[in-house]
Amino acid sequence: MRTKPQDHTALELAMFDYDKGDPKRIQHFVKVRALARTIGMAEGLDEETLHTLEAAAIVHDSGIHESERIYHDTSGKHQEELGPGVARPLLEATGYEPAEVDRVCWLIAHHHSYADIHDMDLQVLVEADFLVNIYEDAMERPGARRRMAESAAAKIFKTKTGLALLRDQFLS
Ligand SMILES: [Fe+2]
Repeated sequence: MRTKPQDHTALELAMFDYDKGDPKRIQHFVKVRALARTIGMAEGLDEETLHTLEAAAIVHDSGIHESERIYHDTSGKHQEELGPGVARPLLEATGYEPAEVDRVCWLIAHHHSYADIHDMDLQVLVEADFLVNIYEDAMERPGARRRMAESAAAKIFKTKTGLALLRDQFLS
């Protein structure tokens, strides 16, 4: 049995390469990974879950380019459908165990499905993605940003740490 990679450097480098020429996507997943790790640690996720969560954060949007190529859009559903097919070979090539690869692919396939989230790794990934998306999607529109944050606070966010980060950045 292969051992778990000590860190995610090889995966992150592979994803940098995959997103070559698209700094927006690279900057996005770097931020989502950092926030997911911070929220996960503050919420007391165990080491194993945290490891899988970080790997998932790095590759969570890996379906975007395929979605644009095949469907000419970047809808959440299409990304969920196509992301695992891109991420799986990257994860396998960089040494992740099959069970962890499967979990990361499951997280990718559900990270735009917000109803009935029961798993902490998915919840934290979704919160970290929202924190970055609210900032990136409403960069020059403070009113829209506040409305997005209020809606996310009411409908999406559950963790104490994620809610505090949301309020401190967008609702204070
Ligand atoms: Fe994302």
